[in-house]
Amino acid sequence: MTEAPDRAALLATLAFQVSLGADEAIGETPIDRFATLNEARPSAPTLRTETADARTPAAAPRGRHRTAAEPPDARPSPPSAPDAADLATAATNLTDLADSMAVWTGSDLRLGARNLVFADGHPGARVMIIGEAPGAEEDRTGKPFVGRAGQLLDRMLASIGLSRRAEAPEHAAYITNILPWRPPGNRTPSEAEARAFLPFVERHIALAAPEVIFSLGNTPTKALMATGTGIKRMRGTWAVHAPSGLPVLPSFHPAYLLRQPADKALAWRDLLALRARLDGHGPAP
Ligand code: URA
Repeated sequence: MTEAPDRAALLATLAFQVSLGADEAIGETPIDRFATLNEARPSAPTLRTETADARTPAAAPRGRHRTAAEPPDARPSPPSAPDAADLATAATNLTDLADSMAVWTGSDLRLGARNLVFADGHPGARVMIIGEAPGAEEDRTGKPFVGRAGQLLDRMLASIGLSRRAEAPEHAAYITNILPWRPPGNRTPSEAEARAFLPFVERHIALAAPEVIFSLGNTPTKALMATGTGIKRMRGTWAVHAPSGLPVLPSFHPAYLLRQPADKALAWRDLLALRARLDGHGPAP
């Protein structure tokens, strides 16, 4: 008979896997390993009596398909998620919006994340910066752009006189992401995931009411502009965010710039274009 692994053995296995680098859950949805384990474990021999069979309708042989006469799986189906657009519209301030996003069950991403990452900086800033999704550091702290890419973003903003810590709106920046939950293994969000959270992002924009949006990378740019065109073609050209009528300047994501430092020169041009617009002499979109 197979012995159930004891706690020490499980911890040793876990430590070994971590030493191999397996320190993250990377599935789309959490898997109940205990359920799988129980299914795989041979069950204790039972006496097949008439009574036992009558009391255990689930004793039908494994692998046999349910016939039309048998009742469907008795487990209750999960309640359907409220509509994201309804929830978002009902939020009348940023705190309500964050609360609604935290409890919205329409995406399984929240099941694998530690913290909702809503925003950082000054909500009255003239510039709203929209990135992709939280990474490991952001998930741990609940704040957007605090890892290496975030540190580069802070330096980029400082180069044009902006800071997420500034108290005066004209020097401040307000920072958020398309997704408020970290995707497993830091993978790029799918377009469907970005679309699912878009009603919350649109409401976020409406409530924060910035003067301009600085959109970092493919995910926010494609989602906000409803386009399939990639960031290499979109960056550096002012566009209009249709739902709000606000000007958007797409630019490279700082994580991309960390990998491709040669493109920092283009990002610098975009920063200068953003500065010029804030100073009242940028081209209108
Ligand atoms: N990348 C993002 O797009 N957002 C973050 O918050 C961190 C890294």
